[in-house]
Amino acid sequence: MSARLEAEHLYKVFGRRPKEAAERLRDGADREELRADGTTAAVIDASFAVAPGQIFVVMGLSGSGKSTLLRMLNGLLEPTAGHVRFDGQDLTALGAAELREVRARKISMVFQHFALFPHRSVLENAAYGLAVQGVPRAEREERAAEALRLCGLAGWERSWPDELSGGMQQRVGLARALATDADLLLMDESFSALDPLIRRDMQDQLLQLQRTLKKTIVFITHDLNEAMRLGDRIAVMRDGRIVQDGTAEDILLRPADDYVASFTKDVDRSRVLTAAAVMDTEPRGDEADCGCATATPDTPFGELCALGARVPHPVAVLDADGAVVGVVPPRRLVGALGDGPGAPEPCDSPREATDGKVTARA
Ligand SMILES: Nc1ncnc2c1ncn2[C@@H]1O[C@H](COP(=O)(O)OP(=O)(O)OP(=O)(O)O)[C@@H](O)[C@H]1O
Ligand SMILES: [Mg+2]
Repeated sequence: MSARLEAEHLYKVFGRRPKEAAERLRDGADREELRADGTTAAVIDASFAVAPGQIFVVMGLSGSGKSTLLRMLNGLLEPTAGHVRFDGQDLTALGAAELREVRARKISMVFQHFALFPHRSVLENAAYGLAVQGVPRAEREERAAEALRLCGLAGWERSWPDELSGGMQQRVGLARALATDADLLLMDESFSALDPLIRRDMQDQLLQLQRTLKKTIVFITHDLNEAMRLGDRIAVMRDGRIVQDGTAEDILLRPADDYVASFTKDVDRSRVLTAAAVMDTEPRGDEADCGCATATPDTPFGELCALGARVPHPVAVLDADGAVVGVVPPRRLVGALGDGPGAPEPCDSPREATDGKVTARA
């Protein structure tokens, strides 16, 4: 599948002589060296590709360069070096007017504190992007009403923003982004200001919308749990650089360095892991014979635990043809919830040695 959005060796340097500074970074200078000269390297050599319909999450601590990266993706900031390609078009090569056109029609942004117009109705707020595009009133109201409905706000069209809760206002922001039919949604900490329960609700709603709308989404957060719930892929940024780009399981099970690993400490592993990630891939071959307690590679961890608890033997993992591709002994389930990287090596006691085998029938 070809990429819808591509970043190629993107740099953004703020301050004096940015191009020269980007050259120095390319030659191995680090952020601190440049800072001494009063120059900030906000994004350093960022490359990635986002496939159509994917949610690509960028996460990292405050100041790591996430928002700067996002603003280069929609052309609000010009990269110091590198290219952004969207639908095969090099955004960095476009003139200001062409760029505005692409931004108005194909890209939508949703911010952390969505600034609604206080003296316009919810419907008019949701229709704002369409008004900018010059869509006639009747059509834009119809499309905005549909977007509000998708975001769970049917019946609120004629209300004023201050009659809505924070979570509902954020939904209006999302509806505004969806109403324009933009292919690319850029979301910068869109849910971060919401209470935890409402935030989860919004995450669920986004995932549900995404199942039908299949937008290409770049979602920024500094919450790894949120990143793991939403992201098909996650890029972790540190001091301007992408230090790892992978799936939730990659990040959790194979963190690129201690910095990435430190984020994963607070993650609820049971929500991320699947059978494929925890299974023993050297099954003996007769595991499927027991005829019960089988899983598939994408069986969620929680379900796997429930299966494992029902039977006195390991759970067999079968592929689509019914062939055994792995087994999950209880040891693996418990181990997966442990500390992950850095956890002590397993001890090879005789009991452990038989643990991967099916020892009894239910
Ligand atoms: N317009 C600007 N001029 C100078 N420096 C800037 C500018 N915008 C951002 N920076 C600097 O670039 C670095 C990255 O900032 P950025 O806003 O991209 O971080 P972030 O990861 O989005 O952080 P946060 O999580 O706090 O939003 C910071 O050191 C910031 O001070
Ligand atoms: Mg930011």
